[in-house]
Amino acid sequence: MCGIFGYIGEKEAIPFILEGLKKLEYRGYDSAGVATLEKGQLFVTKCLGKIQQLEEELSQKPIGGQIGVGHTRWATHGKPSQPNSHPHQDCTGKIAVVHNGIIENYLELRRELANKGHHFSSTTDTEVIAHLIEENYDGDLLQALAKSLKQARGAYALAIISEHTPNSIIIARQGSPLIVGFGAEESFISSDIAAMLKYTNKIIQLENGQIGRLTPKTFKLFDLELTPIKKRKELVSWDPQSAEKSGFAHFMLKEIHEQPSAIRNTIEGRIKAQDHIIHFDELNLTDKEICRINRIVFTACGTSWHAALIGEYLFEQFAKIPAEVEYAAEFRYREPIIDDKTLVIAITQSGETADTLGAVWEAKVQGAKVISICNVVGSSIARESHGVVYTNAGPEIGVASTKAFTTQLAIVYLLAILFGKRHGFINEQQSIGLINDLIELPGKLEQTLQVEKEVERIAEKLHKANNALYLGRGKGFPIALEGALKLKEVSYVHAEGYPAAEMKHGPIALIDHKMPVIVLALAGRRYEKILGNIEEVKARGGIVIAIASDKEPAIMEKADEIIFIPKTSESLSPILAVVPLQLLAYYIALKRGCHVDQPRNLAKSVTVE
Ligand code: AGP
Repeated sequence: MCGIFGYIGEKEAIPFILEGLKKLEYRGYDSAGVATLEKGQLFVTKCLGKIQQLEEELSQKPIGGQIGVGHTRWATHGKPSQPNSHPHQDCTGKIAVVHNGIIENYLELRRELANKGHHFSSTTDTEVIAHLIEENYDGDLLQALAKSLKQARGAYALAIISEHTPNSIIIARQGSPLIVGFGAEESFISSDIAAMLKYTNKIIQLENGQIGRLTPKTFKLFDLELTPIKKRKELVSWDPQSAEKSGFAHFMLKEIHEQPSAIRNTIEGRIKAQDHIIHFDELNLTDKEICRINRIVFTACGTSWHAALIGEYLFEQFAKIPAEVEYAAEFRYREPIIDDKTLVIAITQSGETADTLGAVWEAKVQGAKVISICNVVGSSIARESHGVVYTNAGPEIGVASTKAFTTQLAIVYLLAILFGKRHGFINEQQSIGLINDLIELPGKLEQTLQVEKEVERIAEKLHKANNALYLGRGKGFPIALEGALKLKEVSYVHAEGYPAAEMKHGPIALIDHKMPVIVLALAGRRYEKILGNIEEVKARGGIVIAIASDKEPAIMEKADEIIFIPKTSESLSPILAVVPLQLLAYYIALKRGCHVDQPRNLAKSVTVE
C-alpha cells in the first residue's frame, strides 16, 4: 500500500514526481504529497484526495527544486487527512519523510519522543521516523537513519530528503518494495518498476535491511551497520508502453484485452515446440525432488487464491498428488503441519503481498520447499522462495487483477503436467495433447473477447441490481468466486460465488425475480448437473446468465442470457470462462459510475497484514 516516487538530477523534480505518483496511484489514493529541496531549503505540499488535487495545489502554489520525493497514501494508521498525509516532518522542519509500510512500535516510540519534547502534527506511525532521525542526527543523516531503524520495528520503504544533506535522497527498505532507477545524470526511486520505465530500465531493487544514499550521479548501498554493499544494476525487459493505457479507457479494459498476448508470453520459451518439453528456468527443482513431493499446499490471497483453487484440481487430476489451498493469512498463523516432502506454492501477482510473504517464511521455517508463481520479477516473494516461475504478463496496473489471473492459471496448468509426467501419471502422448490445447488457447481467447458488445448489453440490463450470485461446479466454482470478486471490487455490488450444488443449502433463499444468477455452464461431466441448478433458479424466478460453450437446446431454453465461449478442454475452460465475467464487472462498474481502475478502499499491492 502507498506509493513512493522520487527524483534527483538536473531537471525540475515535480513533473517527474507527479507523473510517477499517477502511475503508482493504484497503490493508494486517499491523500498525496511532495517535498523538494530548492537551494538547500525544504518545501512540502500535501493534501487530502488524489494526485489530481495535489497537482492543482501545486499549480496554484508551485514549488521548485531538482531533488524531491512524493507519496500517494492508503491509510493504515491515522485517517485520511491533510496532516496525516506524507511527507512528514520533524520539529525543525528540516527533514521530510515518505513511508510505505507500518511502524509497529510507533506508539511506544512516540511516547518516548514526546517525553523528550518532540511535537507531533499527525496521528500516523510514520511521523515517529522523522522525529527519531531528528533525535539521532549528529552531522550524518544516513547514520541517523540507520540508528533510528534499529529502534523501529515493522515494515518500511522510506525516502528522506533534508536540508542537512541538500544533494541526496536517503532511502531504506524492510518488507516494502523500493527500487532505484538510473538515467543519464539523474536517478529515480519508486515503489514499482512500471512507474519509472518511461525514464529508465536500469534498476537496483533494495533488499530488506538495506539503506542507501542517492545523488544525481552516485548510489551507495549499506546494511544497517553501514557496511557497504555491492549490488549490480539489473536491466528490466518490460516494454514502457505496457505501463500506459494505449488508447483504452481504463487499465482494467486494456489488461483484459491483453490476455491473449500475455498468455503467449507466459508460454513462450517454456515449451519446446519440437519435443513439447516443459521447462522453467528458475524453478530450482530437480526431477528427483519433484518425485519426492507427496503433498502440495497452495497459498495466496484474493484473485491469486482463486488461481490456487484451480491448481488444486489440476495437481490432483494430472499428478495425483494431494493438494490443498490455504489463505495465506490463515496458513501463516495456524502452525501448519508440513515437512520436507511438502511443496508450498505461493501464487501472487505483485510478489509483495504481506500475508503471502509471511506464509512463505512460515513454510520455509517448517522445512517445506517453496516455489512461487509471480508476475513481478525480483519481488520479495520471488526472492524469498526457493524457486520461482514468472507469469510474464507484463505490468498489471488495474487494481482488479485480470491478466495476472489467467497467466497464473496457464502456469499452474503447465506445472501440473510437469509433475504429472514426473510422477508417472501422464505419458508423452497425453502431455503433447495437453500442451497443444494450451498453445491454441491465445487464439481462443481472442475469439472470446468478441463477446464484449454482448456483455456490455447484458451489463446494461443488470447494472441496477444490488446483488448477484455466481454458481459453478468443478473448475467452474473458482471462476464463480472470481467473477463475484471482480463485480464486488469494481462496481460495489454485493456478489457471492458458490459451488452450484451448495445453493440449495442456503443461498437459494436469496433468489427472487430481481436476483441475477451467473452460471458457469462449462462442458464436461458436470454439465447436466449445472442444468439442474439452472432449473432450480428459474423455478424461483431468478434471472439466469449462463456462460457456455455448447449451443445445445437445453441451455438455449433455460437461460435468460447466454454468453458463448469457444470450446476447449475442461481443464482450460476456466481461462476462457473468466473473460466474460471480467468484462461484465467492468461494464457494470462503468454504468454505475464507479472508478474502475481505482476502486474505493482498495490498493493493488496489500503490503500490510
Ligand atoms: C484482485 O482483483 C485483487 N485486487 C486482490 O484480491 C489481489 O488478487 C490480492 O490482493 C493478491 O494480490 P497478489 O496477487 O499481488 O498477491
